[in-house]
Amino acid sequence: MNQSGMARSDEGSLVPREVPGSYGLPFVSAIRDRLDFYYFQGQDKYFESRVEKYGSTVVRINVPPGPFMARDPRVVAVLDAKSFPVLFDVTKVEKKNLFTGTYMPSTSLTGGFRVCSYLDPSEPTHTKVKQLLFSLLASRKDAFIPAFRSHFSSLLATVESQLLLSGKSNFNTLNDATSFEFIGDAYFGVLPSASDLGTTGPAKAAKWLIFQLHPLVTLGLPMILEEPLLHTVHLPPFLVSGDYKALYKYFFAAATKALDTAEGLGLKRDEACHNLLFATVFNSYGGLKVLLPGILARIADSGEKFHKKLVTEIRAAVAEAGGKVTIEALEKMELTKSAVWEALRLDPPVKFQYGRAKADMNIESHDAVFAVKKGEMLFGYQPCATKDPRVFGPTAREFVGDRFVGKEGSKLLKYVYWSNGRETESPSVHNKQCPGKNLVVLVGRLLVVELFLRYDTFTAKVGLDLLGTKVEFTGVTKATSGVAD
Ligand code: HEM
Repeated sequence: MNQSGMARSDEGSLVPREVPGSYGLPFVSAIRDRLDFYYFQGQDKYFESRVEKYGSTVVRINVPPGPFMARDPRVVAVLDAKSFPVLFDVTKVEKKNLFTGTYMPSTSLTGGFRVCSYLDPSEPTHTKVKQLLFSLLASRKDAFIPAFRSHFSSLLATVESQLLLSGKSNFNTLNDATSFEFIGDAYFGVLPSASDLGTTGPAKAAKWLIFQLHPLVTLGLPMILEEPLLHTVHLPPFLVSGDYKALYKYFFAAATKALDTAEGLGLKRDEACHNLLFATVFNSYGGLKVLLPGILARIADSGEKFHKKLVTEIRAAVAEAGGKVTIEALEKMELTKSAVWEALRLDPPVKFQYGRAKADMNIESHDAVFAVKKGEMLFGYQPCATKDPRVFGPTAREFVGDRFVGKEGSKLLKYVYWSNGRETESPSVHNKQCPGKNLVVLVGRLLVVELFLRYDTFTAKVGLDLLGTKVEFTGVTKATSGVAD
């Protein structure tokens, strides 16, 4: 043993330990754990209590949904900043069919195809689809800022009129409609509302998302209803096939240029279109549904003094850019950038990551090394890793808006994991890091910029929503100086 109580071999390296923890009795314990996860303890407590019980941040546990949807709920959980990145290393873990975890939704929900998120980088289609997405995003890069500003400034105008009428305005509802329009406009230059979808897109999208994610959510209904309805068997895909077809029709018509590119990359038009639909509606729209309320809530709670600092920084950078919001102006906004990263650190919109051990291996936490066998499922609950006090210190659980500012602050960026990779690394066709990484951070910053070009400060009520945070504006103070175009 050394000073920290860890066993070392004669050569001085750490001797691997068995991963502590227990799966309990087959079936019964998995169901009992599921109830703990959803109803008795809640997500954070579920993981934290097991870390505490076994005195280890690498621990064997069951994860939901368990029976009957997942064949095997047993995982090795990595719950600290040091062990978590094993999930990013595709030489060590296989990422096939585990985007949603220990269960996989039926491929009838995605046109019969296994779409990119479910493919391992070793599969040739992964490279082609990811390349298609990189090309699409690159080809539309000049559309993002103007599209965001136009859609979200109308959103804020609606917020103001709702505040006048009733003293409150639900951001989530407005964001759902606005983000859907924004993405369609930004990616394809075609407003979904101007297609046959009309204004039904967001509702159809939400229904289709629920058919894939219901095993992992609670709607706040009594357990006795939710357990059989949401957590035991899959909802039958035919109930959403009409909605999916309507969404597909929009993509097939709106994404002609991207589909031509796809054919050039060796993809069939229909497989490419199902992939574009998934990347746009599940990855992007699903992401923004959670991301933007999450950022807004953190900024709202950070208070007027912090708002003042953001106002000063944002308006100065925009003024320097001749009154325009440009990429260069955004790059100069150190505090705004930091605040968005801090929100992503505290509330990563995608909280669970999985990977199957490709071979016997060792995983290192801050305190020990653990032996894992080939074929075991590794699982990370990201909030535990990105709120690790061994990296972020005593304020690890608090929103510190300027945490990433300056040379010292930016050293911490490598511990921000929301994109399924370090914030200091880049997505590629060879890894599983989110190809929307730069766009997501951009959109987060644009929301903050839009807010503080328009307002000196604002107030909001923050609560919990199905997939994340619920935010209701309760007041805005219109800008008194220096508002841009
Ligand atoms: C993968 C998060 C937005 C497309 C991922 C993964 C995460 C993630 C955690 C890895 C999942 C895993 O394999 O375990 C997010 C969040 C977003 C967001 C939080 C927004 C807030 C986007 C956008 C796109 C996108 C805008 C648009 C292209 C994808 C795709 C994958 C992926 C295609 C699979 C990557 C691969 O197979 O290599 N995302 N994402 N995501 N994301 Fe995003």
